[in-house]
Amino acid sequence: MCGIVGYIGKSHNSTEVLLSGLTNLEYRGYDSAGIARICNGEIEIIKSCGPIVNLKDKVNYSKNSNIGIGHTRWATHGVPSIENSHPHKVGKTTIVHNGIIENYLELKKDLNAIYEFKSDTDTEVACALLDNLYKECNDMLKAIQNFQDIVRGSYAIAILSDDEPNTIYVIKHMSPLIIGVGDDETFIASDVPAILEYTKNYVVLNDGDYAKVTNDGFKIYDSNGNEKKYDVRTFSLDASSIGKNGYDHFMLKEINEEPEIAKKLINRYIENGEIKKLPSIKDCKNVTIVACGSAMHAGLIGKYLIEKNIEIPVSVEIASEFRYKQLFIDKNSLVIVISQSGETADTLAAVKIAKEKGAKTLGIVNVVESSIAREVDDVIYTEAGSEIAVATTKAYFAQVLMLMFLSLRDKDLDSEDFKSAHVDIDKLIHRDEIYDKIAKKIHEQNDIYFIGRQIDYSLCMEGSLKLKEISYLHSEAYAAGELKHGSIALIGDGTPVFSVITDESIAEKTRSNMKEVKARGAHVILLISEDLDYDGDDYDEKIVIPAHQEFLKSIIAIIPLQLISYKTALLRGCSIDKPKNLAKSVTVE
Ligand code: AGP
Ligand code: GLU
Repeated sequence: MCGIVGYIGKSHNSTEVLLSGLTNLEYRGYDSAGIARICNGEIEIIKSCGPIVNLKDKVNYSKNSNIGIGHTRWATHGVPSIENSHPHKVGKTTIVHNGIIENYLELKKDLNAIYEFKSDTDTEVACALLDNLYKECNDMLKAIQNFQDIVRGSYAIAILSDDEPNTIYVIKHMSPLIIGVGDDETFIASDVPAILEYTKNYVVLNDGDYAKVTNDGFKIYDSNGNEKKYDVRTFSLDASSIGKNGYDHFMLKEINEEPEIAKKLINRYIENGEIKKLPSIKDCKNVTIVACGSAMHAGLIGKYLIEKNIEIPVSVEIASEFRYKQLFIDKNSLVIVISQSGETADTLAAVKIAKEKGAKTLGIVNVVESSIAREVDDVIYTEAGSEIAVATTKAYFAQVLMLMFLSLRDKDLDSEDFKSAHVDIDKLIHRDEIYDKIAKKIHEQNDIYFIGRQIDYSLCMEGSLKLKEISYLHSEAYAAGELKHGSIALIGDGTPVFSVITDESIAEKTRSNMKEVKARGAHVILLISEDLDYDGDDYDEKIVIPAHQEFLKSIIAIIPLQLISYKTALLRGCSIDKPKNLAKSVTVE
């Protein structure tokens, strides 16, 4: 949701580390940004609205500082403005915060008598509470303990105090926070990319942990105030893995990584025509897949493939719904959660609820050691590498591949067919002419529709979301057979309708639905697998998907839709890697 960074040490100017860290965290939220650095014992706060570049333009680089904290915001409480941006300073206390303080209004009522609030944020209230608790005991560690007893909600907080110009305090609860371990220097960050150019060694904080960080190192305390031991982990990727490597945008780079990801995962999991390295789920009484957004769309494809290949019932739940609904899961149930970031608050909450119900939990996660990866009983990593673009492409692709492998465990497979897939995936990426033509056709339209049946409908849902979230065009996915029950009224002359046909069992049915929209003037863009291809007059453009076994063809069919979305957004001058209003990891409800 937002990005937090902090630095204390003598090897670097804190300003450089803070701005570099925020730049690498900007994908987590970019409504506003700010830093608080200590120069000559005084805290200086600099803030700006919009992207980090605006903050960089405001900073005086001649000042030396060896300690500071920074924040890039995705607003939850209070519009994006200078007043609402972090860091917030109240009394002697300065903080940056990722999360939501759920009881901030009741806290504010009491604190209004002591402090004059300048912002609409929950964070400023948290800062005032910390400052007031500190004033009562003159001990920030004790103040933090009391703070955790009082507040409700999620928070990763970094704290500077006027009274301790050589110390950073941090608190972690439900929002991610790590401590980066350098040589005679220590870093604080929401995520590893922020500090990767300085160190690959880090400590993951757990819920309830808090720490005191000084030039001599750091101490971590558990929620009972006891100092705790910790493991230092080493991140497996290096800084170059988070660069664009010559592509104009991270999104394009990440789509182009999909062939290699497919090759790596197919070679890792398919051996001698079978899959054995994944857990067998065939004895589960029922499976519930829980996720958000694109990960939920991957879950829909997983449902189709598991039901078809293992013949056990699968339900797919939106995590923010799952956590509040009547549940029928128990110790015989398997709950599979899917998450790229492994930090999505609703999905993390769903894991905890599933475990309370006695269900076994399996995570399909991209970020190693993320909160969800640590919470589930068993985790399968998608190994898609760092995904920086807010709109997911390669991680979604890897999620669906892993779900397909899970559904094919214990099946006899045509290894050669799978081993050749990456070549076709690469070819599918390099069809710019047709993708450019379609992007030009749709980029000024107001409403764009996607239709398909069964697994193709699930694919349409992700294709539609991809287009919406980076080009800001209105789009909807419909079960092809459902369109005629009302929404077909929206189809007029030139309305673009993507039709996806990769499943032979329903190909003719979807073609009939194509004819229905064509008859009403739609501009039909057909995505069809090679084995079902035909020449006809019921489409205007056609993209043929290489035919591969076991619905691999349905999975790779997302690639043209990802690229068409990318090209459409480019034509519309949209911000590709950081779309408006979005954030890469939604760590608040
Ligand atoms: C970003 O493109 C996705 N559209 C977004 O919906 C994402 O899939 C969702 O926020 C879940 O994120 P996660 O996979 O990190 O849990
Ligand atoms: N709730 C805080 C705010 O709105 C922090 C939001 C975030 O995590 O970015 O400022």
